[in-house]
Amino acid sequence: MKDSIARTTALLSTCAVLLTACGGGTQTGTNSAGNTANSTTTNTTATTSTSSVVPIGVAVAQTSNVALLGQEQVAGAKIAEKYFNDKGGINGTPIKLVFQDTSGDEAGAINAFQTLINKDKVIGIVGPTLSQQAFSADPVAERAKVPVIGPSNTAKNIPEIGDYIARVSAPVSIVAPNSVKAALKQNPNIKQVAVFYAQNDAFSKSETEIFQQTVKDQKLELVTVQKFQTSDTDFQSQATNAINLKPDLIIISGLAADGGNLVRQLRELGYTGSIVGGNGLNTSNILPVCKALCDGVLIAQAYSPEHPGAINATFRKAYVDQYKKEPPQFSAQAFAAVQVYVEALKAVDKKSKLSKLPLPQLRRELNKQILSGKYNTPLGEISFTPIGEVVQKDFYVAQIKLDQDKIQGRFTFLK
Ligand code: ALA
Repeated sequence: MKDSIARTTALLSTCAVLLTACGGGTQTGTNSAGNTANSTTTNTTATTSTSSVVPIGVAVAQTSNVALLGQEQVAGAKIAEKYFNDKGGINGTPIKLVFQDTSGDEAGAINAFQTLINKDKVIGIVGPTLSQQAFSADPVAERAKVPVIGPSNTAKNIPEIGDYIARVSAPVSIVAPNSVKAALKQNPNIKQVAVFYAQNDAFSKSETEIFQQTVKDQKLELVTVQKFQTSDTDFQSQATNAINLKPDLIIISGLAADGGNLVRQLRELGYTGSIVGGNGLNTSNILPVCKALCDGVLIAQAYSPEHPGAINATFRKAYVDQYKKEPPQFSAQAFAAVQVYVEALKAVDKKSKLSKLPLPQLRRELNKQILSGKYNTPLGEISFTPIGEVVQKDFYVAQIKLDQDKIQGRFTFLK
């Protein structure tokens, strides 16, 4: 282990200046949903290209079930890349997002991080998609002293992974209780609650703790806690167990495919009460999974397309123009993560030209700058605590509403 760290350090030290463009190539991956995701990567061999760019790594899930979330992150990051480069990049030098697909597991995230750090020589990383992946991959960046901004990791103790780890995704403790309160506002007669969570997923375990605490705090009765795996597709036995106990509210902490299937099967088995979904279900990509049976699911939000301010208006328009629907939270958070890098890099560059800084020093200075800045993003104004936890003001709750055709649907924000 020590040897490999020493080798990595030596490699980084010999790479004095990182700002050489390596003539990007494009890779196209196909994810489980059958959609393609373009990823731009730097070539393996350095070239003598004369142009200069600042490479920022993006390590999210472009394939696997987790791509239901990761695709939205790619979309948000790419809108940010264009937006900030159109505005002059880093005091005249463009940024270049270098995408590495993490797929949905820990090994994929570790590989993507290692490639971005050692081969692509990025100045910092946006990623990974899952907290479950972050607990394995973030320590790789921490050891190499490479800044990481988590765009969607919401489990407890993510910033605590290390000095170089921050996140723009507000934690479960801040976000999750809002959806339970919204369910109670819609139906003050809720008394009995059943909770479901994916026991193989760090975020889901963290989120269910908050949900279960909220149930107690609201003086509701927790009638059962049912466990599943994010890879499960059949929830008949857990769903039947819960329904037999006659809950008025069911709260689910899982990811998009499993969560969507669970919602569908609960409704198919006759459950008619309220459903709260956690952050892993926060994507319109669950609509093809539970279709009309997604109708009414409540999900807390750390972003609203209606958020006032010029930057959100521009982001929202760019997203709507391209995707013909409102931007989701995962896209807005990815945009914000890229924005934090851009604004922190501009500040570092003003103090000492980026092109003159050796890569290890640039990563160090950048990390300090990230933590000390304030950023006016589509999420609103954000900043960081000294350990890299996001400080954000505004949170919301949305409810899935199916259109009359019962095929198309949308997230409607509650007042
Ligand atoms: N918020 C989810 C996580 O942290 C995606 O894993």
